[in-house]
Amino acid sequence: MSTPTTYITTPIYYVNDRPHIGHCYTTLLGDVTARFHRLMDPTPGSTFFLTGTDEHADKVVTSAAAHNVTPLQWADRNAAEFEKAFAFMNASHDDFIRTTQERHKTKVLEYIRALQKRGDIYLGDYTGWFDASQEEYLTETAAKEANFVSPVTGVPLVKKTEKNYFFKLSAYEARLREHFAQHPEFVQPEARRNEVLGRLKDLRDIPISRAITDDPTSQWGIKMPDDPTHRIYVWIDALFNYLSVVDTDARRKYWPASVHFIAKDILWFHAVIWPALLTALKDSDPKYGFVQLPKTVYSHAYWVREGRKMSKSLGNFVSIEVLQAYAAKYGLDAVRWYLITQGPQGATDADFSHAKFVEVYNAELANGIGNCASRVSNMIEKYFAGATPSIGAANTRVHVACADAGGKVAAAMKAADTHAVTSLAVAIIREVDAYINDTQPFKLAKTVDQNPAAKDELGAILANCAEAIRIASVLMSPAMPQKMAQLWQAWNCTPAAGASLADLCVFGGPHALKAGQKISKGENLFNRADAAEAPPA
Ligand code: MSP
Repeated sequence: MSTPTTYITTPIYYVNDRPHIGHCYTTLLGDVTARFHRLMDPTPGSTFFLTGTDEHADKVVTSAAAHNVTPLQWADRNAAEFEKAFAFMNASHDDFIRTTQERHKTKVLEYIRALQKRGDIYLGDYTGWFDASQEEYLTETAAKEANFVSPVTGVPLVKKTEKNYFFKLSAYEARLREHFAQHPEFVQPEARRNEVLGRLKDLRDIPISRAITDDPTSQWGIKMPDDPTHRIYVWIDALFNYLSVVDTDARRKYWPASVHFIAKDILWFHAVIWPALLTALKDSDPKYGFVQLPKTVYSHAYWVREGRKMSKSLGNFVSIEVLQAYAAKYGLDAVRWYLITQGPQGATDADFSHAKFVEVYNAELANGIGNCASRVSNMIEKYFAGATPSIGAANTRVHVACADAGGKVAAAMKAADTHAVTSLAVAIIREVDAYINDTQPFKLAKTVDQNPAAKDELGAILANCAEAIRIASVLMSPAMPQKMAQLWQAWNCTPAAGASLADLCVFGGPHALKAGQKISKGENLFNRADAAEAPPA
């Protein structure tokens, strides 16, 4: 029997854009999810996380020309910007795909040939409303609804007719519907699934090529097999990245993808066109028998800034530079925490607001885990010379708050719901604070000279607090790997390589803080932020 694997992807981003919060967010969501999976199953190589860049868009040619470089040079330059941005974000991807790479182009040609052989691709005429800013055609109805401007960028749509190769999307409608019915988890969240289901009727075949003319723009892309007058439409080329990267002997075990993280803007491509292409490919040749449909397409909502939609015309994107300025002031992990806990994970847009950032930073980090860990370790240093006291037998409220943390993470990850885990961690820290307020260990400490039994009680309280904080830190570590490593170092509890999340999360379990184990207060994890200060620039 083959061992289960997890494969997580992000969209591949248009190489023409500058990296901004939207790209960083989806890649961070993939990163945190991948880190959870690596902890849940620490077998090396059990999780594979992919991100990358989409490079065959027409815009690349135009921008390259404006900068006096070749399209590939332009793509090289900008792909490097994305790689730098994701390295800065501390993303832990296992590979970075660029669609101009040979390994991808060769595979795309193989897939297209297989679809042709099966009769799923034919040459026909296409007339439609072209959105040049998004490189996509809109149907008559969609164009009308959008007032004949791009629903994403507002650029006017242009009516165009061309000879195109078509993919027989219409032939897959029934099978897609059946798949949706049998796999309610296929598109998440629920609101997005319903949206797709509402549109999943009267599907038409879709053009999957563009004509090559004298215009140099039209020469950029992967040529159709055996027809030098057409190139493969950039979206079809791009979707195949998820498969091309793992379609090797060593990596085929990762397919099907566990989660494709995307945002709502590109839902249709991922929820309808992509599974139809895969179904066709699977049936085209026995060698594609492994091409099952991805388990889940998770489509999150959008970041807006200070209540306003971000757009090129407003020039109000939260750029990578803005994120870097926040990281320089508050630490990268605070930025990761804010994005992951406040991000548009569900169907509702999220606001990047400075006031909110400071509020969350103070409440959950500086006054939350930071202060809580420092209070508890401070008391252990002061009253027990830094040696962790014994935990005792009582089923304390902090113990209860940690119950089945491992099981809860596994359930949350099944639903690709990182919010559920970060909220659990925050709730545990709140419980520790409340428990300290209830039991008042600092007062109890004053009585131990007269009453030695009080010392055991004090010890058990502090040990319970420390153990709950340790578990919360494990739950927070995928979002804040550096800060939690700093805490573990001070507390002498860095998880051993190969320790699984389920074991790490057992209160008093195999990885618990042991009685007598040294804990030091260490440096403050997070210094309080002044809400009155201007946003970093
Ligand atoms: N190249 C295509 C995707 C091909 S995938 C086979 C593309 N690229 S993109 O550069 O426009 O990236 C779109 C993705 O960036 C969104 O789906 C989302 O993941 C992210 N975001 C872009 N703007 C965003 C926000 N304002 N908020 C959150 N994420 C957004 O489409």
